[in-house]
Amino acid sequence: MDAEGGRVGFRKRLNPPPRCARTLPHRGRDWSTLALSAIVASVLAISTTAHAAGNAKNGRQKALQCQTCHGLDGLSKLPEAPHIAGQPEPYLIKSMTDFKNGTRQNDMMTFVAKELSDQDIADLAAYYASIELSVTVPKR
Ligand code: HEC
Repeated sequence: MDAEGGRVGFRKRLNPPPRCARTLPHRGRDWSTLALSAIVASVLAISTTAHAAGNAKNGRQKALQCQTCHGLDGLSKLPEAPHIAGQPEPYLIKSMTDFKNGTRQNDMMTFVAKELSDQDIADLAAYYASIELSVTVPKR
């Protein structure tokens, strides 16, 4: 009864469905609808955050605090740290925001990210995303 009650409650919350969901074929309000809502919500969250337009020049200054681990060039200087140069800007924003709000956790990054404002995150993402990469894929 509890589980059924939860589902009914969920149906009510989704009625009327989010505008974007109407463009997709209706398959009943089941878990796929829930997943879809989550995806739509996170895409909206990302695009909203991206509106706090990042300034790459300011981001370069702020990146001085990242260089020990990620380098000013965005190439990892620590075995546990990833390259962040040239990553998509929305992904960089999401990663830093996830560390900041605890959705993603890592001793080092959680510590760093909790001090960053949304503007810092936007600027840092603009800077690291603007670094151009050249890659050579192994022949085989
Ligand atoms: C003390 C080392 C350290 C510092 C300083 C640091 N980071 Fe990190 N960062 C890490 C580590 C380690 C990870 C990988 C975390 C994990 O495994 O989830 C990471 C992950 C990230 C990621 C996610 C990348 C991905 O591919 O998912 C981003 C983005 C990032 N850092 C940005 C920054 C920025 C911007 C700064 C400066 C404000 C910064 N970091 C400072 C160690 C550091």
